[in-house]
Amino acid sequence: MSKILVIGSAGQIGSELTLLLREMYGGSNVVAGIRNTKPSEKLTESGPCEVVDAVDPDGVVGVVKKYSIDTIINMAAILSATGEKNPMLAWNVNMNGLINVLEVAREFKMKQVLVPSSIAVFGPSTPIDNTPQETILKPTTIYGVTKVAGELLGDYYVRRYGMDVRGLRYPGIISHETLPGGGTTDYAVAIYYEAVRNNRYTCFVNEDTRLPMMYMPDCLKATIDLMQADFSKLKHHCDYNVGAMSFSAGELAASVKKYMPGFEISYEPDSRQEIADSWPNSVDDSAAREEWDWQPDYDLDAMTRDMLKAIKEKQEKGLI
Ligand code: SER
Repeated sequence: MSKILVIGSAGQIGSELTLLLREMYGGSNVVAGIRNTKPSEKLTESGPCEVVDAVDPDGVVGVVKKYSIDTIINMAAILSATGEKNPMLAWNVNMNGLINVLEVAREFKMKQVLVPSSIAVFGPSTPIDNTPQETILKPTTIYGVTKVAGELLGDYYVRRYGMDVRGLRYPGIISHETLPGGGTTDYAVAIYYEAVRNNRYTCFVNEDTRLPMMYMPDCLKATIDLMQADFSKLKHHCDYNVGAMSFSAGELAASVKKYMPGFEISYEPDSRQEIADSWPNSVDDSAAREEWDWQPDYDLDAMTRDMLKAIKEKQEKGLI
């Protein structure tokens, strides 16, 4: 039985991943590592919660020892838009946090470490459509720079120390449980909340901005599938492209309109437009499909139906 520490448990992916892992392995076997975000009651009631800051290795070691942790998932990161406002913070959290986690994992001979990457590893000189697994990695954001370095660092620990380190390049992740924070793809979540609240949304990227996206159930499935894959079958380790859907902001709005005909959208691009323009339209995830049978379940309209239903329920309960 694994003893898992999820660092960044109160975040968009961490919050739902922690709950799912607890269902799979038992609450007491999955420690929620939180920093300064208030965890939900679901998180505090379903298993142990500890204050863990990836940039403080002694704190990580304390929790690893206390719970005999043998697997770490490091979801703590500063995303693209916040990173551009504070590049030093992004470097510190994303790089120093990562190397601390890898060093603790090495010292304590962990069974596995999961270190997520992102479509932000790509840049304006990368082929934009069906972006290959192996391609030009010249990002123009500090977030992307830390993600490229993080992939290389994870692969280095595999090669140099024979460790089991894995990671995948998440596209924009869409969910209704915990809001994303400080990312460029956040508009694809905000549109649903604003549709339910106000029946209109002002989008911070252009109508024709197309990006790879994924609904949370597929994100969780991809994460768990990669963690459970047979290590000996993996030809890559920390840099898997994973695709699910690809749509423009206009197509996203059209999908919302199908279910909320009165919905209105306008476009006022800000500094995040340039970041979005530097990322792919879609990715080629054949390596993930071949090496660990990756396959997504949700398309745009299925996601829209689910998102609108869940957010309306939240509104009825007075939660938003
Ligand atoms: N969702 C992230 C961002 O927008 C990309 O990984 O920064």
